[in-house]
Amino acid sequence: MTERFTLDTYAVIGNPIAQSKSPLIHTQFAHTSGQAMYYTRLLGTVGAFAAEVDDFRAQGAKGLNVTAPFKLDAFAYATDLSEGARLAGAVNALKFDGDRVYAENFDGVGLVNDIQRNLAVPLAGKRVLLLGAGGAARGALLPLLRQRPARLVLANRQLDKAQALVSEQGAAAQGVQLEASDYAQLQGQFDVVINATSASLFGQLPPLAAQAFAPGCLAYEMVYGKGATPFLQLARQSGVTRLADGVGMLVEQAAEAFVWWRGVRPETAGVIAQITVPIA
Ligand code: ATR
Repeated sequence: MTERFTLDTYAVIGNPIAQSKSPLIHTQFAHTSGQAMYYTRLLGTVGAFAAEVDDFRAQGAKGLNVTAPFKLDAFAYATDLSEGARLAGAVNALKFDGDRVYAENFDGVGLVNDIQRNLAVPLAGKRVLLLGAGGAARGALLPLLRQRPARLVLANRQLDKAQALVSEQGAAAQGVQLEASDYAQLQGQFDVVINATSASLFGQLPPLAAQAFAPGCLAYEMVYGKGATPFLQLARQSGVTRLADGVGMLVEQAAEAFVWWRGVRPETAGVIAQITVPIA
């Protein structure tokens, strides 16, 4: 007979997984909010996601966070997709309830909450530039549009990918001036510039002109824990003093999953402070 967990049990699944900060974050949330639960990490096997999650559920697990490379597997595994997960085309949190597998994507909400609550930059009426048109940008687009910026430009090297994303999610624009651009044609200045490309993971810089940063701009790097990435260095050299990386986004998306699972909102500031690597 399958052994059952004795505590409400959750995990993050990915491959690799040793680097994940999710166990630390959720364990801290559980501690500060007084929730009796256990959160661990699972090294997933590529090609065996469904079988491994079936096993975890059979032991009575309550939910999962999902990281690379399984966000599309989780999308396929879900029985009930939220609108956010559907539009993002990817899933980063699952909740198990009997036969049902509820799926969410909290990455974009985590980004928006970090910018507005932690960094105190309201997005309504602002000019926002989102760099990239891959999975990270896709997940951020709808939550950003919902804040009603005045203008949102999606810039990508391959213009057709940015155009496809804009036409697919354009219905949510509702009054926002939503545009796709490549880097060469990019016009105007922006109050918030978000790097959702994977360039920083390879030590690369998107070909962004320094004039894109408006005075007083926030430059936000979605990658976290890498210090001054080429994008943040460009922003700093262009006179930007408000620089952030994605550590707050990571913790805020975790907080959204925690509320969804436990019905209790955890305090995030202490965890963010604990795992922040200074942008030197
Ligand atoms: P992710 O899930 O991290 O978004 P992805 O779906 O592979 O990863 O997408 C990577 C994104 O980073 C793409 O938008 C890619 O641009 P192209 O679509 O034009 O290839 C972008 N990207 C990667 N390296 C880049 C670089 N050096 N400069 C600019 N954009 C880059």
